[in-house]
Parts: sequence; structure tokens; C-alpha cells
Amino acid sequence: MAKVSGIPSASAVETPELDPTQDPFARESIQHLVARYGSPLFIVDAQRLRQQYHRLAAALPGVDLHYALKPLPQAPVIATLRDAGAYFDLATNGEVDLVRRMGVAPERCIHTHPIKRDSDIRTALAYGVRTFVIDNPDELRKFVKFRRQVSLLIRVAFHSPDAVCDLSRKFGCEIQAVGGLLALAAQLRIKIEGLSFHVGSQAAGSSMFVEAIGVCWELMQEAGQGGQNLVTLDIGGGFPVDYLQRSTPIEEFCAPIREALKTLAPEVRIIAEPGRYIAAPAAMAVAAVMGRALRNGRWWYYLDDGLYGSYSGQVFDHMNYPVEALVPSGSTHPSVLAGPTCDGFDVINENLELPKLEVGDLILGRSMGAYTWATATDFNFFPRATVLTLDRGRLLPEDGR
Ligand SMILES: Cc1ncc(COP(=O)(O)O)c(C=O)c1O
Repeated sequence: MAKVSGIPSASAVETPELDPTQDPFARESIQHLVARYGSPLFIVDAQRLRQQYHRLAAALPGVDLHYALKPLPQAPVIATLRDAGAYFDLATNGEVDLVRRMGVAPERCIHTHPIKRDSDIRTALAYGVRTFVIDNPDELRKFVKFRRQVSLLIRVAFHSPDAVCDLSRKFGCEIQAVGGLLALAAQLRIKIEGLSFHVGSQAAGSSMFVEAIGVCWELMQEAGQGGQNLVTLDIGGGFPVDYLQRSTPIEEFCAPIREALKTLAPEVRIIAEPGRYIAAPAAMAVAAVMGRALRNGRWWYYLDDGLYGSYSGQVFDHMNYPVEALVPSGSTHPSVLAGPTCDGFDVINENLELPKLEVGDLILGRSMGAYTWATATDFNFFPRATVLTLDRGRLLPEDGR
């Protein structure tokens, strides 16, 4: 289906797009939005963003949630979470520029990329960020000239082979290296504010959080005995969501984490960097069938979105998304969903049972807010899906203002 009007104009934004009580993910809403804006669409629901944020905040009382921008860095998303009271986790100059444009107070932001260029540090400092993350001596030395302006978190690696994305393979110092980094920081007169870790994205369970909290608290106490008062513990992201498989409800998932955090001194500030948990359930991908072919007894449906687009998360984030056809239920057939590009690799799912689809029928992908559109390309000149962020019926302006 052709895009009829592309990115919404300012005038489109003024009149409500949907009834305020209407779920933007409901069939009628999707049909209305596709009729108006064409396909593919990437529909973001601000209400779901807020609900996810508040649900995690309730499951982790006393923990300041810094939304990690990377999974879904759209301006209206930042505006929604800013207004909900979120803090932010930044990793690049582009992310710094975005939160600055959105009027986020720099004191509400930390910069958590363990490996930075001098310009990354200067850009974040110029904005007003003061907390940075390091995990090795070279990175620590980069802060000598900024020592009066910064305080640092040391990122510790906790390897989580069970997590879908084990980030400690690439970042974080080994536990035994923390003492050496603290000693070097003292020698260089750079303030270490605390420790951080990331147990891996879409964590399989909370046991690694519990272990990491325990180890970090021991390290923090040892640092205190050595005269370095570490006042912050950053427990990272990794909180899981439902995809094809259900994850543990977040209240249950966080219960052991809450218990572990109770063992820390009450004056320790606890922060977290959730991305996926807030973003994933808040967006839906809508693609249309561009053409079909019966090949070896299976219907192949070629969509206007695929692995090079919103479904790129299947490649980079190793996730598979619940997909369904927005058609009346009926008898089903072995079916394949493929993306639009000329690459044979661009196949979303080869083993689906779907009702027989016509050109123009819509395919919905759920739980698609995290690491999907953000990693999409426009390979073959198939443009990325148009992002529409709706808040109680109102279409939020693309620039978030
Ligand atoms: C430093 C850092 N913080 C937070 C996140 C967000 O993690 P998640 O989306 O699993 O919550 C990531 C993800 O890559 C990360 O690298």
C-alpha cells in the first residue's frame, strides 16, 4: 500500500486522530491510520510507554529509572517519559542532542558508554552531564583533564550466557580489576561515584541481578574501608518482556532484586537503565502485503516491511515477534512472510499458518518497540516505516514539541 501522506504535518497533529478512548492498536485504529498515512507504519502508544515506566517504577521502589534511549529514540517517546518523571541514559552525541532539544535537565542524565571519544565527553559535559562510566585504565585516564567536573561509575562485568544479549562479553571490568581502577582513580584524583553493571538484555531471570548486587555491595564496602566512598549503584537494564514466549511478570521478576537491594546501606542511591522493558510493548509494526506467490505448496506473502526494516531486530536483537494478519479468521494455510527487498535473506517467518491473504491485507507485529525501527535501514530504497506516536487519540508531533 502506497504512503499517502508520509510524515504527519503540524496541522494533522492538532486535530485528534482517534477517539481519546480508542486503543491505537485496535483493528479500527490501525485501519484508519493506514488509510490515512499508508504503510508500513510503526505505531507507538504513549499510554503504554507510561504504563511500562510506572509499572517498573512500582516494582523497583526507590530506584531512579534512567530510560536508555537506544531501543526507541524518538522525540515524542522522550517527551512522554520526561513528563512521566523519567531520568535518561545516554550513550552517544546524537542522544545528547536529542534530550537537549527535548529540554531534559542534564542533571537527570548519565552517560553510560564505557568507551568514548574525547568529543563524546566534551559534548556531554557541555550539555551538563556529570556522571560517566568507565571500565578500564585508559578510559579512566581520559577524565584527568575533566576531573573537576565529573564523577564516574566503574562498570563491572557479570557474564550472563542465558541472557539473549550478553553485554558483559564486550564491556565491563572483571571483579578483581575494580580495586586497581579505584587505586588509579585515587592517584589521578578522579572521583568514583559508584559501580554499575548490565546483566544482559532480555535477562532470563533475576538471579544474576541478585548476585551482581551482592558482589558490588561488597566492593563498595571495601572501597569505603580504603577511604573511597561509593554512593551510587547502577543496576543497568535487562528487564524482560513478552515476545513469542512469556516472560516472568515484572513484579515477580523484581521481587528478589528488591530483597537484594535492602541489604545495601539506605544512603546508597540506586539507579537503573531500562530500555526494552519500557519500549517494547509500546509499539506495533503494521505492514501490507505487496504481492504473493504460491511456491512449493506454501503461500509466500511479500510485505512492504521486513528484515531490513522494522523486523531488523530479528537479526540484530535476536528476537522473534508475535505476528498476525488483520483479516477475519478462517481456514489457514502454510505461509511465509517475506520482506520487500531483493535479498533472499529478507524473510521474516517461513513457518506460519495464516488465512489466505490478498494484496493490501495487513500484517501486525507486536512487542516491536525495542531495537527494531531503531536498527532499520532503507536498503533497496524501501523507506523505513512511518512512525506515528499517539497519545489518547492525539498524534504527537514528530519533533516531540
Ligand atoms: C549501557 C546500557 N544501558 C542500558 C541498556 C538497555 O538495556 P535493556 O534494553 O536490556 O533494558 C543497554 C542496552 O544495550 C546498554 O548497553
